[in-house]
Amino acid sequence: MNPLLRIDGLSMEFRTRSGTVSALQRISLAIEKGETLGLVGESGSGKSVLSYAIMGIQDPAARVTAGSVQFAGMDLLHMPERQMADIRGREIAMIFQNPRVALNPIRRVGDQIGDVLARHTTTLARDREARAVAMLQAVRIPDPQRRARAYPFEMSGGQCQRVMIAMALAANPALLIADEPTTGLDVTTQAAIMRLLREAATDRQMATVLITHDLALASESCDRIAVMHAGHIVEIAPTRELFTRPRHPYTASLIRSVPANAASLADLDAIPGSLPDLRSPDLPACRFADRCSRAQALCRTQTLPTVLEGESMVACHFPL
Ligand SMILES: Nc1ncnc2c1ncn2[C@@H]1O[C@H](COP(=O)(O)OP(=O)(O)O)[C@@H](O)[C@H]1O
Ligand SMILES: [Mg+2]
Repeated sequence: MNPLLRIDGLSMEFRTRSGTVSALQRISLAIEKGETLGLVGESGSGKSVLSYAIMGIQDPAARVTAGSVQFAGMDLLHMPERQMADIRGREIAMIFQNPRVALNPIRRVGDQIGDVLARHTTTLARDREARAVAMLQAVRIPDPQRRARAYPFEMSGGQCQRVMIAMALAANPALLIADEPTTGLDVTTQAAIMRLLREAATDRQMATVLITHDLALASESCDRIAVMHAGHIVEIAPTRELFTRPRHPYTASLIRSVPANAASLADLDAIPGSLPDLRSPDLPACRFADRCSRAQALCRTQTLPTVLEGESMVACHFPL
């Protein structure tokens, strides 16, 4: 059976004044229907760029230099923008870290959900309001009838995040991309939002890409985890396996460096070195080589293996 989303050898770069940024290199990934895949990595590793590439939202400076993105058998990279715009929102929805930016500040939240229904579903105009209220109720907004008439500024960050989830789920997408959906929220709200997302994934057989720098969060919510470093996916494995038996030295040091009670990559400074400059014209084949205690000369010169074996992949010449 074909996976819902399949990315093969995707490379992407940005042309900037100060040079060409190699933001993604030979990314390969497959996600099955109903699966939750975590995408973890330090800030700047390419998580957001990858999610934008899947959504077909591109900076004018961005260029895909190799690879393909297939969704339900369709080639997303060469799709006319009109058709892509249809898929976006209906088949693939996205939620962001900062809902206030994504929400329209001068439109009532109920109407914003109604707009999604109008655009992407066959819901009749007269049923949209009731459906929007039901969506607000589904994401546990208290007094949804009344709150549907509120503007985003009248709501807390957590409530706005719920509204954005309601909008994302309104069209019943097959794939949800959640980019740091709970960053900046308090712990209780964080847990509630994650419960909502898991519930939606189970009830609707919706696949989810959960982008986070929070390893603990990923470990609780994901079936599999892909680890990114400097524009590469260095390892993919089922969650339990990744934590009990990491195979890439970077994954191992990530897990080791996160104190059990902090669990956020933002807090860690224990991994020696930093991300290489992605503008450098002679990046080593393994972009972790300069930070890796196992590295040998060939790590800098020989293309990394990135072949999926079953559900797992490790892009390393000397895995653990
Ligand atoms: N529009 C852009 N122009 C140039 N470089 C960019 C642009 N967007 C992202 N990048 C670069 O791509 C890399 C990955 O960024 P990003 O995907 O935002 O990282 P993450 O989401 O993992 O923190 C970074 O080096 C970033 O500077
Ligand atoms: Mg990001």
